[in-house]
Amino acid sequence: MASDYQLFPDQASTLAPQVDALYYFLIAVSVAFTALIFFLVVYFAVKYRRRSDLDRPKPIHGDARLEFVWIAVPLGLTMVMFVWGASLFFDLRRPPSDALEIYAVSKQWMWKFQHPGGQREINELHVPVGRPVKLTMTSEDVIHSWFVPAFRTKMDVLPGRYTMAWFEATKPGSFHLFCAEYCGTDHSHMTGRIVVMTPAQYERWLSNSNGAGAQSLASVGEQLFHQQRCDTCHMERGKGTGPALAGLFGNDVALRGGNSVTADETYIRESILKPNAKLVAGYAAVMPTYAGLITEDNLIQLVSYVKALGQDTGGEAQ
Ligand code: CUA
Repeated sequence: MASDYQLFPDQASTLAPQVDALYYFLIAVSVAFTALIFFLVVYFAVKYRRRSDLDRPKPIHGDARLEFVWIAVPLGLTMVMFVWGASLFFDLRRPPSDALEIYAVSKQWMWKFQHPGGQREINELHVPVGRPVKLTMTSEDVIHSWFVPAFRTKMDVLPGRYTMAWFEATKPGSFHLFCAEYCGTDHSHMTGRIVVMTPAQYERWLSNSNGAGAQSLASVGEQLFHQQRCDTCHMERGKGTGPALAGLFGNDVALRGGNSVTADETYIRESILKPNAKLVAGYAAVMPTYAGLITEDNLIQLVSYVKALGQDTGGEAQ
């Protein structure tokens, strides 16, 4: 914290200065037009005031130049806002491909995080400085919202689907995490902190108490895969009654009916909970649903396992 009284939160991510720059521009445009309007109201009131009872103004029949100006100037300004805002939006929506993948599950009223190495945290997230972090998030109950003001990142966290956010912290420190969607009685207590550490500190943290004996998400997912007997159908290519999963993640899957879908986190999750929603071409609708049998945490573990299978055989990254 630079001081106790700041107009804006710390700028602690790569995108924070860019978000602020756009915001300053919007404020500047608003202030400029407000000032212009105030000035013109007063100026015209004085200039065109009625000077006598017999005063009759000359009729006006329009002015093409004036009309052109008040169409072109706002159009230009709004186009700048649109193009600038859209390009920043795309930056915010597209995590770099080398991002560290963290999973978040929110519930009334806490944040649960899982690292790829299996480390778990509640209401605290430790990340390294200078490295993009991608969050894949879902909710166990109602709508929550991921909000870290210092990173200028905010994203709804919804039950029943994955949403994504990413950031790259630019300085070590501790930053507030808020839930920014009213989610019940203790919504205002659904806070946490993001602890940004140097890469060396982060490595130490990973292998420290939190990491001791932790199994990677993918290997926990593999155990679950066998426990739930997924392996009786999903075997090597051509052997099982279900499609093979090796090399699947990140690639396109041909569906029955001619469509195709990219095998991402959302697709894997849906296929576990609603197996018949998107049937792979050439396979029958025989898989039972696992809805109600496994938790969101389990789903994340299974998704991580399928992801690891995809990477083993050189499946393309997104
Ligand atoms: Cu969770 Cu508000």
